[in-house]
Amino acid sequence: MNIDKIKKEVEVELKKLQNDRDCGAFHQKYLGKSGEVTLLVQSLRDIEPSKRAEAGAMFNALKKDTEEKLRKIQNDIKQREQTEKLMQDPVIDITVPKWGPGGVPLVGGLHPITLVIREVEEVFKGMGFIVESGSEIATEYECFDSLNSPKNHPSRDMQDTFWLSDGRCLRTHTSAWQNYILKKYGPTFRAISPGRCFRNENLDATHETTFFQVEGMMVGEDISIANLIYFMKTALTAVFKKDIKVRLRPGYFSFVEPGFELDARCIFCDKGCSACKQTGWIEFCGCGMIHPNVLKEGGIDPTKYQGFAFGFGLTRLAMMRWGIKDIRLFNSGNLEFLGGVK
Ligand code: FA5
Repeated sequence: MNIDKIKKEVEVELKKLQNDRDCGAFHQKYLGKSGEVTLLVQSLRDIEPSKRAEAGAMFNALKKDTEEKLRKIQNDIKQREQTEKLMQDPVIDITVPKWGPGGVPLVGGLHPITLVIREVEEVFKGMGFIVESGSEIATEYECFDSLNSPKNHPSRDMQDTFWLSDGRCLRTHTSAWQNYILKKYGPTFRAISPGRCFRNENLDATHETTFFQVEGMMVGEDISIANLIYFMKTALTAVFKKDIKVRLRPGYFSFVEPGFELDARCIFCDKGCSACKQTGWIEFCGCGMIHPNVLKEGGIDPTKYQGFAFGFGLTRLAMMRWGIKDIRLFNSGNLEFLGGVK
């Protein structure tokens, strides 16, 4: 058979190939055992020896070229078919709902504590506070001694502590970070530190052994209780997105003088409800003016500089924020609960 005729025919047929089946048929017709190109190559033996080399080169070139072109077409067809399949059956279905039956999340999300930490950090950063993290393991000095809490003083019993065998403890409050921060940033700064705290307490709806607090301090010249009230009111208003009134009552903490309990006007009611125990006020945090001994221990001259400190429960804040009734849900890994916090 004439090589030019086969060559032309192959070119025309290659252009017609649409799918795997076409390719299979083409292969059989031209490159199979009795295919036209195969037979052409085999016909070499009938060609007279003087012309065999030239003809052999041409026949083999045609065979190689046909094989390569067919392989390329087969690859293109495979890719096209895969793309078509993906288009019909997309791997990412943007129409899948985020929440399934019972509020169970179908996709991952941030834990409510993470959400509340980020929100509080943003609010305080906006008011010029640095965010610093502290270690969850504290020395007795950091957790108590540096905070004007004398050894064997009964106030240490207010926080049931998990002690480690090397004499250190799991910090009972983020105040354990105060001495470090006074030494690092004193004598003028504003800083907060959110983090996990631990107390060896009996569990109930409002008490956990592992919970989150955020500590805050502002130190400088002429800092007063008015500054404390301003920052707490502004922060609460930003977190709850409504004007929140606050009030101070006397409170004892060894590291502040005067010390206060700060109450926030109940966010759920006007007059009284179960959340505020019918008082209209919710106990929000401990705070006060940093005790001169604490400033001194942090290397700051208390005759020249003053500051306020506060510490509030982020877990309890998250409870207020989303109306969560039982603190134990936070560490439960209960997806239905986590799904409800959006
Ligand atoms: C303190 O821990 C002081 N360090 C706060 C402070 C800082 C006072 C700076 C003055 C100056 P208190 O023990 O009250 O204070 O705890 C503060 C908050 O932590 C509480 O109001 C509560 O929201 C949270 N909290 C305390 N214990 C638990 C617990 N077991 N479970 C959940 N939240 C808790």
